Amino acid sequence: MQAEAEAARAAGRRLALVPTMGALHDGHLALVRDARRRGGEDGHVTVSVFVNPTQFGPAEDFDAYPRALDADLDALAEAGGVDAVFAPTDAAMYPFGLPPYATVAVRDLDRHLCGATRPGHFEGVATVVTKLFLACRPHLAVFGQKDAQQLAILRRMTAELGFGVELVGHPIVREPDGLALSSRNRYLSAAERAQAVVLSRALRAAEAAVESGERDAAAIQGAMEDQIAEAPLARPQYAEVVDAGTLQPVDTLSPESPSGGRYLAALAVFFGDTRLIDNTTLEVGRGA
Ligand code: PAJ
Repeated sequence: MQAEAEAARAAGRRLALVPTMGALHDGHLALVRDARRRGGEDGHVTVSVFVNPTQFGPAEDFDAYPRALDADLDALAEAGGVDAVFAPTDAAMYPFGLPPYATVAVRDLDRHLCGATRPGHFEGVATVVTKLFLACRPHLAVFGQKDAQQLAILRRMTAELGFGVELVGHPIVREPDGLALSSRNRYLSAAERAQAVVLSRALRAAEAAVESGERDAAAIQGAMEDQIAEAPLARPQYAEVVDAGTLQPVDTLSPESPSGGRYLAALAVFFGDTRLIDNTTLEVGRGA
């Protein structure tokens, strides 16, 4: 992969990477199209497909996570093709075995939201993305806003460690009823799938509360929880409002905040064993 990337760099091409764990859906493919567009005429797009063991907890779905490389290659070909697909083995990525000796941690930004209940998850993500950057040598990498905490952590890692990779955040791709596309949606029963619409409804409720002048974070969280309570099969894990930059909880939304009035409303909800996440950005301006 490094030889391929170095040759493309030497030819003056602009390299874009789209890291994935495979089981590709239209959300992933939107990232690939974005990467192709941004690379322009001389672009070179790599999609990585690797179900990274170090970002799954012991009780999580690593073994059950869908693996469908042939279908993924077909989907990429159908979507217009890419220049390279990097699908390494576990041994290639972790040559000294598991757990790895060398890891990358980004402190504090993993204290809340998903980080609170998935210890070690974001260290696994930061470590594997570092390895993917070293293997694929991209100028830019495209990530989904769907995993907002992941994107914030990777932005901080890239900036602070000086990777020289431009990170692009792509908007969340949704089903017509609002459910965010996810490789895990395929685990849902028909009844769970129908009720999963409450995640995006809860986020719309948070936006509506802010638009109508609500500035109390607990009240906005309450509005989200009320929506989730409408779905009898839903078990909420968290519904939080945090500062968009520090990812720390807040009491009151204010335009004077460190992030200039930008906040993240984020949710994790279980349906049976399936854990779904979603989020939206909340902004409060000085005039509001
Ligand atoms: P994965 O869950 O396969 O997602 C790969 C990329 O697709 C991530 O950047 C994710 O945010 C984006 N994505 C997934 N669903 C999306 C949707 N509905 N709309 C927009 N973007 C979406 O995230 C990972 O893999 C891994 O943690 C990885 C970064 C590859 C490291 O292992």
